[in-house]
Amino acid sequence: MAKIPLIIDCDPGHDDAIALMLAASASDLFDIKAVTTVGGAQSVDKTYYNARRVLAAIGLDVPVARGAAQPMVRKALGGTEIVHGQSGLDGPALPEPEGEPCPLTAFELLCQVLEEVEEPVTICPTGPMTNMGILLAVRPDLKKKIKQFSIMGGGFYMGNWTAAAEFNILADPEAAKILFDSGIPIIMSGLDVTHKAYVTREENEVLRQNGNRCSVLAAELIDYFSRYHYEVEKLPGCTLHDPCAVAYLLAPEIFSGKPCHVEIDVDGTYTLGKTVVDWFGHTGKEKNVLVLYDVNRPAFVKLLTEQLARLR
Ligand code: RIB
Ligand code: CA
Repeated sequence: MAKIPLIIDCDPGHDDAIALMLAASASDLFDIKAVTTVGGAQSVDKTYYNARRVLAAIGLDVPVARGAAQPMVRKALGGTEIVHGQSGLDGPALPEPEGEPCPLTAFELLCQVLEEVEEPVTICPTGPMTNMGILLAVRPDLKKKIKQFSIMGGGFYMGNWTAAAEFNILADPEAAKILFDSGIPIIMSGLDVTHKAYVTREENEVLRQNGNRCSVLAAELIDYFSRYHYEVEKLPGCTLHDPCAVAYLLAPEIFSGKPCHVEIDVDGTYTLGKTVVDWFGHTGKEKNVLVLYDVNRPAFVKLLTEQLARLR
């Protein structure tokens, strides 16, 4: 079977790092063409460095490019240290990046990959969608080379950075709007589903006991990341937002979703950055997004634990 050509656009970020590991673990399914980085969980200098360190830990040799430092229109949100620490990836020790930095910007690398491929590519944005907004605005001719977006962002019932908005969308709502309005199929792993994709302390110990370097690293990332979920959000486990966007591609049967029309609020007083989901079809507009709302949690944890055991 032909592999799925994949690009991951991320802001590592603890759960981004685990999403990268999950994608790399499925080398039989994915042909990872590139990793691009964006400012979000920390500055783009830090997320770029973090992505390169994570790929060094995994032993994944694909081009990694530095993307947008600032949102398309607004100022960066900031304040993410409470979740990801000063480095954006506080907690575990990571190796230094391997190889030379990519001479291309994320925009240039995205264009290069999309121009070269024959088979349309799946893109997983797991951070603010600035790189995607720029790509789609500047090179709409390349839309035909994008099969689908499997994103982590948004939420139907809740926000996590304001009462209404999820961080990745709020961080650059104008870019998210370009992506959501693009006409390209979108699978949305929003907070409705990602808050159900959590790992308990006991399950994290099982992951650690896999014993391989990457499983231990993932467990250590979860040790740090879970503090925010337990102490601030009072959730029952470590919420693995970004891995959902990859896990859906690996095992869509463990997720439940509904096609809906979704708009991004770019000027609301109280709802800026909200993904407005037309669940009941009031607008009659095209169902542009598969909104994931549930996951078989034991199957998700099993998938993660088994897949990460395949890494070094
Ligand atoms: O709201 C969850 C998102 O913000 C995830 O992408 C996570 O990495 C965090 O920074
Ligand atoms: Ca992220």
